Order: sequence, then C-alpha cells, then structure tokens
Amino acid sequence: MSGVVLEATDLARFYQLKRGFMRKPATVRALAGASFTLKAGKTLAVVGESGCGKSTLARAVTLIEEPTSGKLIIDGKDTSSAANRKELREKVQIVFQDPYGSLNPRKKVRDIIGEPLAINRDHSASEREGLVKEMMVKVGLRPEHVTRYPHMFSGGQRQRIAIARALMLRPQVLVADEPVSALDLSVQAQVLNLLMDLQAEFDLAYLFISHDLSVVQHIADELMVMYLGRPVEQGAKGRIFQTPRHPYTRALLSATPVADPAKRRQRIPLTGELPSPLNPPSGCAFHRRCPFAIEQCRQDRPELRSVDSRLVACHRAEEDLPAPSAAAAA
Ligand SMILES: Nc1ncnc2c1ncn2[C@@H]1O[C@H](COP(=O)(O)OP(=O)(O)O)[C@@H](O)[C@H]1O
Ligand code: SF4
Ligand SMILES: [Mg+2]
Repeated sequence: MSGVVLEATDLARFYQLKRGFMRKPATVRALAGASFTLKAGKTLAVVGESGCGKSTLARAVTLIEEPTSGKLIIDGKDTSSAANRKELREKVQIVFQDPYGSLNPRKKVRDIIGEPLAINRDHSASEREGLVKEMMVKVGLRPEHVTRYPHMFSGGQRQRIAIARALMLRPQVLVADEPVSALDLSVQAQVLNLLMDLQAEFDLAYLFISHDLSVVQHIADELMVMYLGRPVEQGAKGRIFQTPRHPYTRALLSATPVADPAKRRQRIPLTGELPSPLNPPSGCAFHRRCPFAIEQCRQDRPELRSVDSRLVACHRAEEDLPAPSAAAAA
C-alpha cells in the first residue's frame, strides 16, 4: 500500500508486577493486541479512558519500549532487529501531554530544540541555531526568544517548543500523547491547528492519542477506540462518528458535546469503573458496564470483525440496538 510508513500487527506489551515474597508475579496486559497502519499525511486517533493502554501503545510505537509480542514495521523495516531500531528511532518522535514536565527548566530553548541535532548531526553551533530559529518560526514562536528558558513561556508555547524539538530530525511519524489535554480550551484549538498545518507541510503520519473524542473530531482521519488494552472499534472517522456500532463507542460519543441540538444523541450512560487489566473480566471486557450485555458476552471474548465498513469487537455489532434509556434522553 502506498503512503504506509508504519504497520503494527497484533502489537502487545505486558508488564510483570512483583507481588512480594512467595507470591507469583502478576501480569498487566496493558496492550493486548492492536493492528493498524499509519500513512503519510494522515492521522490515526486513539481514544479511550485513562488506563486503557494508550501511552503503552505510544511507547511501543516510538521504540521507547519493546513490544512483548507482535510485529512493528517502520519505513519498511522490521523493528525487532536492534540495528534497525537504532536507525528507525529518528523516524518516530513523540510529544507528551505535560508541557511543564517534558522540558528541562535549566536549558535555554535553543538547546532544548537543538538537542536532537546536537546528538545526531554534525552541524556547527551557529548552523544549529539557524535551524532552530527556522523551526521556531514554523511552530509560531518568535526566533528572538531562542535564549529564553521554558518558564518564560505559556503552556501552549511550551507545547510548541516540544513540537519543534520533535520535528528537528524530520521524522516520518509523530506520536502525540494527549498533546492538548493540559491546555485551556482556546489554546487547544490553536495547537491542534498548528499540528494540522505541520502535518501538511512535512507530510507527517500522526498517531494522535486522546481520552476525549471531541478533541480528535477534526484532526482524525481514522479512529481506533480502545478498551482495556484492546481496540474495540476501528475505521474511518466519519463512519464511526456517524454510526458508532460498539456500545462503548456509543457511550463515549453520547457524552461528547454536540453544538447542534438536532444532532444530539440519545445518551448511553457509562456507569461503573474501568476494570483492572490485572484481572480483566471474562468474555467481553466491557460486559459489566454494557447495557446490551447478553449471556454470551460473559463467556466469549468478541474478536474484531468487519461490520458496516469498519471493525467492531462486539457480539451484537450487526444489531440496531436502541438507546437503553430513551426516556432520559428526551
Ligand atoms: N511500567 C508499568 N508497569 C506496570 N503497569 C503499567 C506500566 N505502565 C502502564 N501500566 C498499566 O497499564 C495500563 C495501561 O496504562 P497506560 O498505557 O498508561 O494507559 P493510558 O495511557 O490509556 O491511560 C494501566 O493499568 C497501567 O497501570
Ligand atoms: S459483546 Fe456484549 S457486552 Fe460486549 S459490547 Fe457487545 S453487547 Fe456489550
Ligand atoms: Mg496515557
């Protein structure tokens, strides 16, 4: 397929938790198998509640952690080889949620943004500063601020600094792990617009992570909704926003504010807590919270399958299920 820069197949990452003397270590299945592709100039948005494995996925894709199993191909090369991993690390960069914690407070912006170049390229200091200033302009920062320290910038500006740093080595893939979640609403829109402009300019493939569907509504091309370490609905954004088929997606969407009251959805309440991935429920991991659960849901885990032009992991994906509390929505 053309334009594919990253291909993940059944990607999984488990963590072993030691539980003290005489007790067997427990296994956290933080990411229990995800398959997807990232394409140049396109955005895959990954959405789900806190704890569903989004950051674990981000760390596997950026080669910060090795997957426990599964296959990850970047730029046509298999990342299971150590030599390839070293080479490919430059091609996938990440921006984190916290614009305060992710920048070294004792370094000037020039050195923060220039660091990837200082480590990986042979420019002179003045060449490097020139490239840093160029990138500062592209992300909407003033190049004359190159000698300032992070605390002299606002949250939104700090996220621009982090984005500039991530782009210095001209990666093919940018992973953005909740990049605007810590920012005020008005600033969120500015940073999202910037990310979209930069994507067009550099033909970047984005893996955009958010717990909030309304944030990804404009930026996403494809959507992957995750629950307890697994994708439960996956496909084109328009398809899923228009006719979500997984009850979890429906619940997330019905909680997302919609400007036009005519388009307001019947509300599906999301009750109860997210179960622990240490001890996942039998059958469908969503069954204890699902208003449509039937006996089969408690026993068999539904596999992802193609339904209505997207993938869904639900035994009842083909049925047109009514909203359970239509009265509450009226
Ligand atoms: N290093 C780790 N050791 C043990 N458990 C972890 C580790 N990292 C994440 N987890 C667990 O894996 C699950 C998924 O975490 P995470 O990927 O951070 O989710 P999200 O980013 O969606 O909030 C959580 O239950 C979390 O506690
Ligand atoms: S498989 Fe059953 S419990 Fe799981 S989402 Fe579908 S209807 Fe609900
Ligand atoms: Mg996270």
